[in-house]
Amino acid sequence: MMMKVSQHHRSYYSQKSPTLISLFVLLLPIFFPHLFSPLARSYPSLFSEWNAPKPRHMRLLQGALQWQTPFRQQLELWSPLPHQGWKLCHDTKSTPLPEKSQGYIQVFLDGGLNQQRMGICDAVAVAKILNATLVIPHLEVNTVWQDSSSFSEVFDLDHFISSLRDEISIVTELPVEYSWSTREYYGTGIRETRIKTAPVHASADWYGIAAISPFSHRLAFDNLPKTIQQLRCKVNFEALLFVPHIRELGDTLVSRLRSSVEFSGQREKYVVLHLRFDKDMAAHSACDFGGGRAEKLALAKYRQVIWQGRVMKTQFSDEELRNQGRCPLTPEEIGLLLAALGFTNNTRLYLASHKVYGGEARISTLRTLFPRIEDKRSLATADERGKVEGKASLLAAVDYYVSMHSDIFISASPGNMHNAMLGHRAYQNLKTIRPNMALLGQLFLNKSISWLDFQNAVVAGHKNRQGQIRVRKEKQSIYTYPVPDCMCQT
Ligand SMILES: *[C@@H]1O[C@H](CO)[C@@H](O)[C@H](O)[C@H]1NC(C)=O
Ligand SMILES: *[C@@H]1O[C@H](CO)[C@@H](O)[C@H](O)[C@H]1NC(C)=O
Ligand SMILES: *[C@@H]1O[C@H](CO)[C@@H](O)[C@H](O)[C@H]1NC(C)=O
Repeated sequence: MMMKVSQHHRSYYSQKSPTLISLFVLLLPIFFPHLFSPLARSYPSLFSEWNAPKPRHMRLLQGALQWQTPFRQQLELWSPLPHQGWKLCHDTKSTPLPEKSQGYIQVFLDGGLNQQRMGICDAVAVAKILNATLVIPHLEVNTVWQDSSSFSEVFDLDHFISSLRDEISIVTELPVEYSWSTREYYGTGIRETRIKTAPVHASADWYGIAAISPFSHRLAFDNLPKTIQQLRCKVNFEALLFVPHIRELGDTLVSRLRSSVEFSGQREKYVVLHLRFDKDMAAHSACDFGGGRAEKLALAKYRQVIWQGRVMKTQFSDEELRNQGRCPLTPEEIGLLLAALGFTNNTRLYLASHKVYGGEARISTLRTLFPRIEDKRSLATADERGKVEGKASLLAAVDYYVSMHSDIFISASPGNMHNAMLGHRAYQNLKTIRPNMALLGQLFLNKSISWLDFQNAVVAGHKNRQGQIRVRKEKQSIYTYPVPDCMCQT
């Protein structure tokens, strides 16, 4: 789908067309959707289940397009977070490396980049707890994302090993006596070295090597020593850097976002919007996204194929789901949210997104509200993209990097990326907006709501959702809420 829509993306270097013309072009798909119907014939798979969706909230959209955000609101929105009384802990002494390692820990990590990241942090902690040597984690090929990049193709291996030098020992390869312990070995049923007589209560040193697959969510978040919690955070927020070429590409994109043609030379601010709105998510949510009968049928069919009727949400009506805030925001709705929060049509907006169900046409309303929208494809040259194209993990890494360097981050739906940013940006006291899904669901249900009422309700409902420190509750992740486990009060 990405391939099919890429031709609609403007290149970074060809966007100097006069404003009026580009505005006209951007408005076209909304007000004259039939003009785009010839596309339907060339891309039947994309358009058959959905005829260029019209904006669902026309009143609000018109209100947003005419709205002039008061200067004070803009100033408040873009101002950095005040210091909140928490800083990184530097006082906790970790236990020294054991004189003799107790064997090897090998982990196989599935999931997307952000899940694998947490797995790596936990693996380091487990190796520390067991006084074992960690083998560089194996990143599994995810069935959805299909990326076979290895640890060292995503993360800076030397930095990882050297920043954890005083904490655990790490090897990139197993010694020959354990070289049989590979992904392929565990993938087959017949294992020559299988031990049938393992003692029920073997001590740690009975095992030469422990391979754990899959290794995710295997280490609890509660009741662990502070040193272990801080080690996990240190891995996540300090030891895990992306490989140099990802950081370079990230820096290039950041500097292009920050340099502006309009304000010659001034460092511009930008917001990152993480928009996850793929078919998988749309179908699983069981909500109605306004694409009519064809879209409803297509999503129901997808649910049947993937989950065989196990999506419990289908017993609720669309209205009930929206009232509970359980429907992902569409690109149109997130656009209205951004406008209400005070982002103007002059805002530099970076779209961190894999693919959007419905493609470019579904994003067009967002583009109308925010003409200066960019993403990694529009900002980078084909040459620059060469090393990351087609590799989901590396593309996600670029988005992660650009997101971490933004003035404001906002996510259209709670999920792994949202949680990762919430934690990592809290660690650096950076502004991160958490959409109030239940409030928005209710506001969007009111078809007669005026723009001003909507705008006021949105602003009031997000006052305390912009990165104010939230203390971790029991069972919550330290990677999402690093306070108080990984931070100290000043
Ligand atoms: C931005 O919005 C203002 C009205 O708030 C309008 O006058 C201006 O033309 C818009 N600019 C663009 C590029 O759409
Ligand atoms: C790890 O080593 C420490 C001392 O360095 C010891 O107190 C602890 O019991 C060891 N843990 C295991 C699981 O062997
Ligand atoms: C819907 O919006 C209108 C106009 O803004 C408002 O008067 C009304 O109270 C709202 N209805 C509900 C159920 O919130």
